[in-house]
Amino acid sequence: MNLPRAEASVAAPDPQLTAPFGLGVASGAPRPDGVVLWTRLAPQPLAEDGSGGMPQSPVAVTWEVARDQNFVGVEKKGEALAQPDLAHSVHPRVDGLRPGTEYFYRFRVGDQISRVGRFRTLPAAGTSVSTFSFGFVSCQAWYHGHYTAHKHLAQEPDLDLVLFLGDYIYEYGITPENMWRQGADVGPAHSVEAVTLEQYRLRYSLFKTDQHLQDVHARAAAAVIWDDHEVQNNYTGKTPAVSTPDPNFRTRIAAAYRAFYENMPLDVEALPQGDTSDITTSIDVGNLIRFALLDSRQFRDPAPVDEVDRTSPQRTILGADQEAWVANQLRTSSATWNILANGVVLSPISPDKVDMWDGYPAAQTRMLEAMSKASNPVMLAGDIHKHVAAELKADYADPNSRTTGVELVCSSIASDGDGAVTDKHTADWTQHPYVKHYDGRRGYVHVTVTPKDMVSTFYSVDWVQSDDLAPKQVSARFYTRAGQMGLSPM
Ligand SMILES: [Fe+2]
Repeated sequence: MNLPRAEASVAAPDPQLTAPFGLGVASGAPRPDGVVLWTRLAPQPLAEDGSGGMPQSPVAVTWEVARDQNFVGVEKKGEALAQPDLAHSVHPRVDGLRPGTEYFYRFRVGDQISRVGRFRTLPAAGTSVSTFSFGFVSCQAWYHGHYTAHKHLAQEPDLDLVLFLGDYIYEYGITPENMWRQGADVGPAHSVEAVTLEQYRLRYSLFKTDQHLQDVHARAAAAVIWDDHEVQNNYTGKTPAVSTPDPNFRTRIAAAYRAFYENMPLDVEALPQGDTSDITTSIDVGNLIRFALLDSRQFRDPAPVDEVDRTSPQRTILGADQEAWVANQLRTSSATWNILANGVVLSPISPDKVDMWDGYPAAQTRMLEAMSKASNPVMLAGDIHKHVAAELKADYADPNSRTTGVELVCSSIASDGDGAVTDKHTADWTQHPYVKHYDGRRGYVHVTVTPKDMVSTFYSVDWVQSDDLAPKQVSARFYTRAGQMGLSPM
């Protein structure tokens, strides 16, 4: 029952700020003593100007962190200013928390309270860790299907971290031809390719309205890197894709990188300076895992013009600085497992696949060499919209070559729609004896790591276009024993 308010002095809530948490909440950049919290105020997420329906003025947002979901004992609280310059996003870093501990958080604007999110701080540096579980995903073409895979990922009982490996959004215009998500309908503002800051903001808003994606972010801390579609399909470094010359491309990159920062639980180091942004980082999980998150897009050389160009020893996909950085991360690591994450597939598959590491064979060889010297090296990748598992080899010319590490590639969340277990691309991959798995359906990968072993489970769903009701299926599960790299089916 609604009673009229007795006191005229109590101001009604600003109608523009009613339900301002339309894009959910998130946490990221975890450390032993804290995390970055994120939200972006958007009472009308699909406002066509990308503003989320917010006024052109700053709004104070308070945040609270507690050990319990009811916030009986609030351990930390603070205030952040949501400013129009950053699309009313906030990225407060919380510190002073206990290591290896589960926490809950929420935001407040006026009398509006957000949903509750959860994260776990990392174990203390250098300590023994008995187990750590993470999921990884890529390629969220919202208009191609429902985020059923996210629905299942959010329900994983063990989930300490989720890695987003790129194509969090797609820049393409959404038209009746590519709208395969049944029941969805978007207005004309979404039908054009995203180029401006306002358009990229609107695209993040649209994708982030998905409840299952919001559930994944509320469930665990995220680590995020990008691939190409956060800016433009197949762009390289500061250069647009070969077929689309654009004198203003650096302006477009700057807009896209800014919108990425605004919409992700990133630390302030990732705040772009114009068309440059540092999203590379490492995450140490006690002495169990060192993760290194790589940027395989921003610093790469252009697509090769011919075979001489492709095989040039100078060609780089990470850029010299990042290549030295990751080599040092591997060299100085005392972790049992060394897990790299990047946008595109490392394993040699075909000289035609020039958008992957195959377009940069000299850099590919250097990376494989650097990884082979580290303890239990693993590469994670996305991009191809297929599940693939491959053993990394010391010498790909030798069929009996030693296995030096493994590569786990997650399929897409939605891109390419329903898909099938096998398709016209299967043989491109499975022709290689070191490729141990291929599945062309949508899904995610869940990994549990202990000091003794790693279990990686590839989950698939049979459909995503008609609804979000497909049950998850185990596509494949592999066992990897520490000190004995390889993929054994379980
Ligand atoms: Fe993709």
